[in-house]
Amino acid sequence: MYIVFEGIDGAGKSTQIKILEKWLKNNGLDVETLIEPTDSDIGKLIHKLLKNNNAESDKMQKILALLFAADRMLLTDKLENNNKIILSDRSYISSLAYQKNYNWIKQINKHVKKPDLVLLLDVSTTNSTKRTSGEDKFENPKFLENVKSNYLKIIKEFNHEIINANNEINKVTSDIKKALAPHIKQYKNNIK
Ligand code: TYD
Repeated sequence: MYIVFEGIDGAGKSTQIKILEKWLKNNGLDVETLIEPTDSDIGKLIHKLLKNNNAESDKMQKILALLFAADRMLLTDKLENNNKIILSDRSYISSLAYQKNYNWIKQINKHVKKPDLVLLLDVSTTNSTKRTSGEDKFENPKFLENVKSNYLKIIKEFNHEIINANNEINKVTSDIKKALAPHIKQYKNNIK
């Protein structure tokens, strides 16, 4: 099962994934976590380019979109042949929300596996920017405001749950657990 966590920078995805990985493992489930961009050479190049001043230019946006898709292709084997519960920090839905030209983004990601469930951690940009370094080009409130509204539109195409990520960590965790429990019934009925 491919479960994806989405949300703007600073939404708390990585924190929650760590907690949930532990929870599922404690319940005896086979779990694996993924992060996009990955730590591959392509992923490293992406992180380098995101720190450049021209990251928001149209040309660089297209180059980044292609690199995000290429980096993601490295994960396809793992996603196709796996009986584990995979918790992923981002997916091609990030590309749909962050990059321009929706239809083209869909096209270049057409070989990527669709998530079984998407958990959208929805947070205000006021709260999210308190949690980020502002180092990456995409980490500015105005840009992220747009990404946040893109997410809320795009997410309707997927099997999804929206989680209010403005709350404190423990409350967000318990909301995610409640949202997740029915979906992982096939693995375990009485999850604690
Ligand atoms: P991420 O590694 O989640 O950020 P951080 O370095 O703060 O942990 O992702 C890096 C940036 O890349 C983030 O601003 C979101 C952006 N991104 C896209 O624009 N498109 C994509 O397809 C993905 C996966 C990430």
